[in-house]
Amino acid sequence: MADRFRYRLYDILKSYYLGSLKEDYFQDSSEKRLYRKIYFETFRHLGFIERALGKLYSRPPEADVRAALALGACQIMFMDDIPEYAAVNESVSLVTAQKRSFVNAVLRNLARQKESLMKDYTIRQDFPDWFVKRWEKRLGAELDAFLTDLNTKPSFYSVNPASMTIEKTEGEAEGHIMDLASFSVARLAGKTDPLSVLDCCAAPGGKTFVLSQTYPDARVFAVEKNKKRYEQLKASMMQYTNVDCICADILELDTEAEFDLVLLDAPCTALGTIKRHPEVRWLRTTKDIDDCSRRQKEMLEKAVKFTGKGSTIIYSVCSLEPEETTEVVEGFLKTHTDFTTVKPVCAEQFSDGNYFVSLPYKSDADGFFAAVLKKK
Ligand SMILES: C[S@@+](CC[C@H](N)C(=O)[O-])C[C@H]1O[C@@H](n2cnc3c(N)ncnc32)[C@H](O)[C@@H]1O
Repeated sequence: MADRFRYRLYDILKSYYLGSLKEDYFQDSSEKRLYRKIYFETFRHLGFIERALGKLYSRPPEADVRAALALGACQIMFMDDIPEYAAVNESVSLVTAQKRSFVNAVLRNLARQKESLMKDYTIRQDFPDWFVKRWEKRLGAELDAFLTDLNTKPSFYSVNPASMTIEKTEGEAEGHIMDLASFSVARLAGKTDPLSVLDCCAAPGGKTFVLSQTYPDARVFAVEKNKKRYEQLKASMMQYTNVDCICADILELDTEAEFDLVLLDAPCTALGTIKRHPEVRWLRTTKDIDDCSRRQKEMLEKAVKFTGKGSTIIYSVCSLEPEETTEVVEGFLKTHTDFTTVKPVCAEQFSDGNYFVSLPYKSDADGFFAAVLKKK
């Protein structure tokens, strides 16, 4: 059983080095808990691991060897509960026969030099340089606290669907488990009692669920473009009788209908979810931020088509990059003078002037941004 997870983990790392890794992460289960932990620790520390390994060979080896070395190095340097010999042997066994002596030699060398290598460790090396530079400009002296928190375990909250209250839970318990910021975003319009709600980008449906229960008198239309994700959305919304799921591209949706509340939880870089998905930091580039920003502006422009006098749009992203957040909203407000921002209805820790901002190291939640835009 263990082998299946070990090779899956190895394959994920290999595809990362080959440049073909999309978001991928281990779901939890008792058998693979250890491998999930190795997965998290490896992606959390990959920047430092790469630097340390780089001191031990003259040029980077092929993807399969790099993957085996990264997994072994992570266990040697960051997981004291795993014996060094076990970490080395496991990595050696992952590669083909002719590459084993190289992996063995590099990891044994690393284990010997561990103490001196670890003296150079800083939290900033666990993140791409472009990410560190951007956040240093924003946070200054608080940068290390922010980065350190991103490398800790994410929190889980459980929603009571009857009372729509939310409380912290240990691990991944049964029921409606959500991120606190994601839950809060769907409720930012407060007691506006909409009768019609459009959820433009709905799957997997966390916010659709919150909308349907927060506004039981409303009809909630949940749109999702991706067929597979739509099927999952439909299955999970089956029990909520005020929800209609629609498989469509919101940009091509043609309807005269006007909705009281439109939620645009737009596709984004997801850089706010690094605690839950440690690999995301290594998969994104500044070009992705610009591409997402362009698409978000286009989608917000489209969302207007579904509004009438007095309608509200909630624009949200699980990213804190200015191009995906304030720049989108401020550009929108300049060209849509019939809209104004309304103070979001949310807990103190998320309130940032007219915006909802969740900074993980202060909010115990994913990084999220949202704005509530009201049509006059
Ligand atoms: C950030 S996720 C939404 C998360 C969801 N609101 C929740 O709380 O569970 C964005 C979703 O939008 C979908 N999507 C992307 N472009 C879309 C489009 N043009 N029309 C409809 N859905 C789209 C993606 O497939 C993805 O499922």
